[in-house]
Amino acid sequence: MSPFPHLQKTYDILTLKQNSMKIVIANESHFRYAQIISDTITESAKVRGTGIAKRTPEYIQKRLQNGNAIIALDGEKFAGFCYIEVWDHNKFVANSGLIVHPDYRNQGLAKKIKERIFQLSREKFPDAKIFGITTGLAVMKMNYELGYKPVTFSELTTDPEFWKGCQTCKNFDVLTRTEQKMCLCTGMLYDAAAKKKEVHKKEVDSKVFKRLKNIKEQLFLKKKKKNE
Ligand SMILES: CC(C)(COP(=O)(O)OP(=O)(O)OC[C@H]1O[C@@H](n2cnc3c(N)ncnc32)[C@H](O)[C@@H]1OP(=O)(O)O)[C@@H](O)C(=O)NCCC(=O)NCCS
Repeated sequence: MSPFPHLQKTYDILTLKQNSMKIVIANESHFRYAQIISDTITESAKVRGTGIAKRTPEYIQKRLQNGNAIIALDGEKFAGFCYIEVWDHNKFVANSGLIVHPDYRNQGLAKKIKERIFQLSREKFPDAKIFGITTGLAVMKMNYELGYKPVTFSELTTDPEFWKGCQTCKNFDVLTRTEQKMCLCTGMLYDAAAKKKEVHKKEVDSKVFKRLKNIKEQLFLKKKKKNE
């Protein structure tokens, strides 16, 4: 606990840095963490009561072994986890299952894991749209900071396997009732191609604006000279 309550967040982040926290790409050597990851997800789902799909240890093991997951370890202790799933033949990528162990929450760890998994997704699947569905404000905030935009489910993958993952969520009946059009989760999407277009449009707009400004200035100067 920080001796200065108003500096608690800075204190936590500094502590996180001092700790031997490693945020790495997971592999088979991390299989022993599958159980605790699964249990932490189940416990958090119980506490929050909504919007978190359960994951069995077997399911987690599969995610640990294909180079598409990030694990955070404080020395040997499990601290956090997130994984990438690929849908629609690499057209879509989801960053799913974000979990931070209660002992390590509110220290900026989820943000670091999110940044790392986002970076990994962009490196491995540069042409894919990255998306997530969430009821959590924390995740929405982090996604927004990374450049995601909220979208309707119609903009997300239609791959039935992705939506099957929602079966263990307690709100699954809502999703079924709306024929997968909406649920309590918000869909968020990072569309790299749309981002490129946006940047290009901004550049074009600024060039057009500069040219217009020059023309106006010249016209104004000519008028001024005539009147002198
Ligand atoms: C959600 C969760 C991953 C956040 O982990 P964390 O390490 O405590 O998050 P961070 O400290 O990195 O905080 C990241 C941002 O989220 C905000 N945040 C964290 N917990 C929050 C909460 N419960 N409600 C609202 N905002 C929250 C932080 O203030 C921070 O925002 P800021 O940068 O604007 O200050 C963690 O609480 C968790 O594992 N919860 C259970 C599982 C879960 O909900 N997963 C998401 C499934 S969609």
